[in-house]
Formats: sequence, C-alpha cells, structure tokens
Amino acid sequence: MTFSSNFLWGAAASSYQIEGATTADGAGLSIFDPFCRRPGAVFGGHNGDVACDHYHRLDEDVALMKQLGLRAYRFSVSWPRVLPTGIGKVNEAGLAFYDRLIDALLAANIEPWLTLFHWDYPLALYNRGGWLNRESVAWFAEFSQVIVDRFSDRVSKWMTINEPQVFIKFGYGDGTLAPGLKLGLDEQTRACHHALMAHGACVQVIRARAKLPPTVGWAVVGRVDVPATDSPTDIEAARRGSMNITQPDLWNNTWYADPVIAGHYPEDGLKLFGPAAAPPVERGDLQLINQKLDFYGVNIYDGRPVKADANGNPEPITFPPGSPQTAFRWWIVPPSLRWGPRFLFERYKLPIYITENGLSNIDWVSLDGKVHDPQRIDYTQRYLLELERAISDGADIRGYFHWSLLDNFEWAAGYKERFGLIHVDFATGTRTPKDSATWYRGIIESNGRALHG
Ligand code: FCB
Repeated sequence: MTFSSNFLWGAAASSYQIEGATTADGAGLSIFDPFCRRPGAVFGGHNGDVACDHYHRLDEDVALMKQLGLRAYRFSVSWPRVLPTGIGKVNEAGLAFYDRLIDALLAANIEPWLTLFHWDYPLALYNRGGWLNRESVAWFAEFSQVIVDRFSDRVSKWMTINEPQVFIKFGYGDGTLAPGLKLGLDEQTRACHHALMAHGACVQVIRARAKLPPTVGWAVVGRVDVPATDSPTDIEAARRGSMNITQPDLWNNTWYADPVIAGHYPEDGLKLFGPAAAPPVERGDLQLINQKLDFYGVNIYDGRPVKADANGNPEPITFPPGSPQTAFRWWIVPPSLRWGPRFLFERYKLPIYITENGLSNIDWVSLDGKVHDPQRIDYTQRYLLELERAISDGADIRGYFHWSLLDNFEWAAGYKERFGLIHVDFATGTRTPKDSATWYRGIIESNGRALHG
C-alpha cells in the first residue's frame, strides 16, 4: 500500500512566526512581544515585529502556495490579533485579515487547516495568570467561539492547540520560550491541565457551532523512539520508550494524549510525578478533556534510536560520530516518520496527519538567483519513504504538512534557522522558492510516486 488517492499534501506555518504587523490595525500584544525584548532570550535579539510580513503579503504568499501545488495549508490564528485583550472586545480588522487569507486559499483551491493556538497567548491574559489560571479554559473557549462563528462557513478542518509539550515545558518549565517561566513540575502540570481542558472546551465549541461539518484534531509533538533493528524485541523496546513516562518532566506523548483520548492521566506518570506534582483535577475536568477527536495531528522531526536491554526496556544508542544533522543540530532520523505514526496509531486508533516535518538548512540565494537546497530534498525524500512504510505497515495516515512554507521566525533561534520551502530575504521581504519547492510540487503532483525516482 502507498499514498491513497486522497492523501493530503500540504505545508504549515504559524501566525507569530510569519505575520509581523504585531500591533497593526488594533492587534493586541502576545507573550512573545516582551519575551523577544528580554536580553538574551532570542538569538540576535530578533523578534516577530515584521517577520515575513505575511500580514501585508498574503496574496503573494497564497500565489506561491498555488505555484507549489499545495492541496492544503496549515496556519494559525493570532489570538491577540482577534481579541486584543484576550477576551471581550473583538478586533474586526484582525478577523478581516483571516477572512482575506481563507478566501484567497479557497479561490486557489487550497484547503485551509486552521490551528487555534500556536503559542501567541494574549499578554493581557498572561498578566492574569496565563495557563496557570483555571479561567484560561473559559477564555480560550470564548476565543474559539469567535473564530468558529466567523470562519466555519468556509473552514472545516480544525486543530485546537499546537505542541502543548513545548509551550508548557519550555514556556513554563525551562523558560526558553515565552513567557519564559522557570516553574516546578507541580505548576507545569497545573498549566498543562488547564491547556488540556481548554483543548476540550475548544472541541466542544467547534462541534456545537460549526456551520460546515467539522473535522477536529490537534497538533502535538511526537516524541519517538525508533528500533535499532526490525527484531520484535527492539520494536517492543521502542514502543515502550515512545509511550512510557520514565522522566519527571512533561516531554512525552501520553501525559497529553491519554487524558485527551482515553479520559485519564497515565498511571506511570502519576506515580513518577507523585502527589506533590499531581494535576489539579476537579470533578468533570477529565470528561471535558476527553472529547472525541477525528484525527491525531503529530509533529515529528527526529527520534531516538534504541535497542532492547536485558529486560526489554529501551537502551538508547549513541549516534556514531559524524551522523547526519540539520543546521539546527537536530539528528536526522528518517525512521521516526515510520515508527512515530505507527505507535501512535496502534495506541490511539485515530487517523494520523503529520502536521509538521522538515528541517532547518543553511540556504542562501546563489549567483544564479536560485536557492539550491539538496539537503532539504534528500531529508524529505527519506522521511516520506519511511512514512510510506508506515502506511504499508497498516497505519491510517491521511496527510503530510511540510514545515515550513516560508523561512520564518524560529522562536528562540530567531531568523537563524531556515525551515522554508521558500526562501525569505528578511531585509527586503523578497521570496524565492527553493529547489525543494519545485521538487515537492513533483511529489504532490505524482501523489508520492516521484519519491521512487
Ligand atoms: C515546532 C513548532 C514550529 C516550528 C518547528 C520547527 O516545534 O511547532 O512552530 O518552530 O518546531
């Protein structure tokens, strides 16, 4: 089996990373605005004030997407652009921007895939406690309602939250991402619990109010162990490594997905974290979190190779010196796109979309005016071939979104890391499709057959 005829090929981006115009037309501030101004927080002191200026260049960008042959585009809505203080007064100009984007996508025959929250939390609500405040759930539901009421006549594909693992662990634990807090595990599990409830409330709002029949999922990190060999014991060890919680932190799959899909926090995590870091579960919370999803969206970039130890548990294998890495120094592990979706499909039994995958690469405009990025082509080809194997293995995988459409603001790494299929000159805003964009177009047109040469 290979890619089905309706397999969805897309690319992804997010509001704060590309839009710029952070205060234009009445938009409110997000937690990234002050965070970027904190000395040392972001590489080079960069910020998202202008970014790709997508806010003013959306027509050009949609034209580029069309040229790329994208069938779908995953983007997020900036909460403070739409609700400048997070709740209450709606900013019509903010909504109008997304109207224009969605209409342009539909006119270009590109399906809009809308993420409600990709980390740009309203500063005004952060000042009232952010995700640590249980009221976050109602605040996010209010925002969700504004979005669903306005766009669900044209949008039917929804993702609630992006990578809670990252915005909780790095935003509230390690402090390397906005809001830059360094809190203990107890407060991280509290913030996480509210974010999961907000996810559930958002699903309820979508199901209750959407005009077009909705397809609802989320987009979370896939922390993947890959087996060193295809032996059943190594595979089982990788499965355990991917699904067990063995470290007292929130960098895992099941702390998030078990409550969302099965309605309870995982036993191993509860035991390991102990009563002091138990989430503040009140009556009805888990029912709220546990809303039916139509798909599992997962972002996978790399994985940890493991073999089975004497007890069948995962034993990490050190990468041999000189193993391939991206410009970001992330390991290149193509089988993560086979085993990650496979293990997640086995456990949660939901159709899978790869909502992000890609690499940062050292790209520049050559003397011939083009951007040659053979590494991006090779990386993506290797990963997609492994994804195809996961499909042959029986996992129900419905689509793939490349991260990213454009080079953009890569959070704490600023503009240093280039993930785009399209090069952006940040001084002028000039876009140049890279060689990989042309290559990806061929993959889309051939529905993946061109992967085999
Ligand atoms: C993911 C984020 C996305 C982007 C990529 C490289 O963690 O969801 O915004 O930064 O990594």
